[in-house]
Amino acid sequence: MRAAITAVGGYVPDKVLSNKDLEKLVDTSDEWIQSRTGIKERRVMAEGTATSDICVQAVNQILEKRGISATEIDLVIVATVTPDHVFPATANIVSDKIGATNAWGFDLSAACSGFLYALDTGAKFIESGKHKKVLVCGADKMSAIVNYEDRNTCVIFGDGGGAVLLEPCDDENGIIDSILKSDGSGRAFLHQKAGGSMHPPTHETIDAREHYVHQEGKTVFKFAVTNMAEVSRDIMDKNNLTGDDVDYLCAHQANLRIIDATARRMELDDEKVLINIERYGNTTAGTIPLLFWDFEKKFKKGDNIVLAAFGGGFTWGSVYLKWAYNS
Ligand code: UT7
Repeated sequence: MRAAITAVGGYVPDKVLSNKDLEKLVDTSDEWIQSRTGIKERRVMAEGTATSDICVQAVNQILEKRGISATEIDLVIVATVTPDHVFPATANIVSDKIGATNAWGFDLSAACSGFLYALDTGAKFIESGKHKKVLVCGADKMSAIVNYEDRNTCVIFGDGGGAVLLEPCDDENGIIDSILKSDGSGRAFLHQKAGGSMHPPTHETIDAREHYVHQEGKTVFKFAVTNMAEVSRDIMDKNNLTGDDVDYLCAHQANLRIIDATARRMELDDEKVLINIERYGNTTAGTIPLLFWDFEKKFKKGDNIVLAAFGGGFTWGSVYLKWAYNS
């Protein structure tokens, strides 16, 4: 039995933070940001809101679209690096807020690859026959951990995310294959130093600004270009797909140049490469479900879609699926 995505939902907050706005905060320019990343603006959440609120908005769209009740959900997985709290899991909070009283759930931490890791994990519960309805969310409130005095990182990230519903599928569509990878030796180049058990919060960690994202951009860029392109090519070769066979690439939106390199390696025409980085920036676990949300109307039943991501950890991977419905 295969697991198929049967509905998608997404959410970004209303407040726009444009490149021009950032010019007032740090020494940067709209020209630099657009030419180096492809980003024009990103969204930021209001104070007093959290990652669970992104998930709730997305999930409520799904419940309405599918005409189902939250009590029918078996499992909720939330991929995020910005959980509402260190514990309990954001998945529990989402379940409580939507009224999924029959579900269990957990959070999954794989940074920008989080949605792919969570999608593959959720699919296993459907494939095994254990569950019939699994919600997979990918969402991050990156503004909670971004230093708006650091031009290396603050221009990149934004808030938002989305969710998908996984259900059993008895035709040839659904999630077909995945290749997921990790290499913890890359942790030095992209991490949040303090706040965990290694460096619990103290006045010193706050003063040293260690609760913000630290990224060595150039190094991460090199690993991202190589690994995301390679894993996407690998999943095509493993499934005997040529560039002509692939209908769409939904790649993690970290940098237009990384997405372009992946698309070239996959030998894809430009119109098959879905892009929304210009509007939302890098929403970490949120980018791929946000692509589904924005481009759902383009997808037709049976379309061959390749998902690809690279992120902190390092983590990376690719998923091959056949879209399961016409919207
Ligand atoms: O999402 C998870 C994984 N993350 C990624 O995939 C991100 C990967 N990395 C990147 O996308 C790129 O490395 C960045 C967009 C972060 C940076 O672009 P870059 O082309 O690698 O720039 P750079 O870090 O090599 O910096 C080039 C120059 C430097 O100045 P010098 O040393 O050449 O004088 C930086 O100081 O650009 C400077 N710079 C900036 N200038 C204006 C760095 N950030 C900015 C900025 N505005 N915001």
